[in-house]
Amino acid sequence: MPLTTKLTQRLGIQHPIIQGGMHYVGYAPLAAAVSNAGAIGVITALTQPNAEALRSEIQKTRSLLRSPDTPIGVNLTVLPQLNSPDYPAIVQVLLDEKVPMVETAGSPKCAELWELLKAGNPDVCIIHKCTTIRHALKAQAMGCDMISLDGFDCAGHPGETDVGNFLLQPIAARKLSVPYVTSGGVGDGKQLAACLAMGAEGVNLGTRFMATAEAPIHDNIKKALVAGDENSTQLVMRSLKNTERVYKNAASDEVLRIEAEHPGQIDKIYHIVKGENYRASFQETGDAQSSVWSCGPVMGLIESVPTCDELVRGMVSEAEAVIQGRLAEMCR
Ligand SMILES: Cc1cc2nc3c(=O)[nH]c(=O)nc-3n(C[C@H](O)[C@H](O)[C@H](O)COP(=O)(O)O)c2cc1C
Repeated sequence: MPLTTKLTQRLGIQHPIIQGGMHYVGYAPLAAAVSNAGAIGVITALTQPNAEALRSEIQKTRSLLRSPDTPIGVNLTVLPQLNSPDYPAIVQVLLDEKVPMVETAGSPKCAELWELLKAGNPDVCIIHKCTTIRHALKAQAMGCDMISLDGFDCAGHPGETDVGNFLLQPIAARKLSVPYVTSGGVGDGKQLAACLAMGAEGVNLGTRFMATAEAPIHDNIKKALVAGDENSTQLVMRSLKNTERVYKNAASDEVLRIEAEHPGQIDKIYHIVKGENYRASFQETGDAQSSVWSCGPVMGLIESVPTCDELVRGMVSEAEAVIQGRLAEMCR
């Protein structure tokens, strides 16, 4: 029984599972493996040094696909920073390469990019990541196609309101008129079934896809994810109102110590939180202790490092078994 949802129908994919954008993780090998598994893989635009490098990464991903028309996506995170990337050039690449799905996140300026994307390709599916119902309603009114709703349990930036997915999701089902997917804390098929039951059209996974054979990160980071559990993360940068959920280690402990002394002062912690540090951990050293890197408490469900195909097939068949077995039997 395929799990057919508005997400699978809209994107023309087999399974209602998205691999969310991940800085320094979302490269061609992972995105292609996820899309080849029948879900949708996502390249992270800002991990590429410039728009032309992104074009090459999209083309590389396509060269790894079993069939060239298998859908892939690109994550476009819109930062409020001063020396911001050349977003119009990135959008042009997404249009030239006819990328069918764009996952956006970040500043409200995203909406300006949606307009450019839609003008160039009316069929593009824009999925905007939000952490609150208020922002999701705003994004819906501004014209995105779907919402990816990141609950408090997510890796990366959970926002400042701390509402877990068990509540956030059914509220979204009542309040949103565009389809939404559940993001944050999802790692198995029982959860997939539960998310669909609560009203989602699919799920978005970050951390779980880091611990897969094809994720292009150091094996020691994958081992840390397997060894970690639901208590192995902590929240840094709360004092800057830019909360990030990260692996609990010596580096993130140090950030919290400094934040307690100097709340809200990025310059005091920047040398520890800067992206180059975790890029080195992910891609070179495999040292899980020396940098501040995002991951989620879904580690409590990560027991092995499967291929993306094994992971996706396993999740979908577990969800089907729950829906057709346990739940159906309760109604007999
Ligand atoms: C290492 C890492 C890097 C991430 N980088 C980004 C990013 O650049 N842009 C973004 O929108 N989300 C980013 N995320 C968030 C994920 O796309 C996804 O929303 C989140 O991981 C979902 O929670 P989960 O890890 O519990 O599945 C990142 C997550 C991780 C684990």
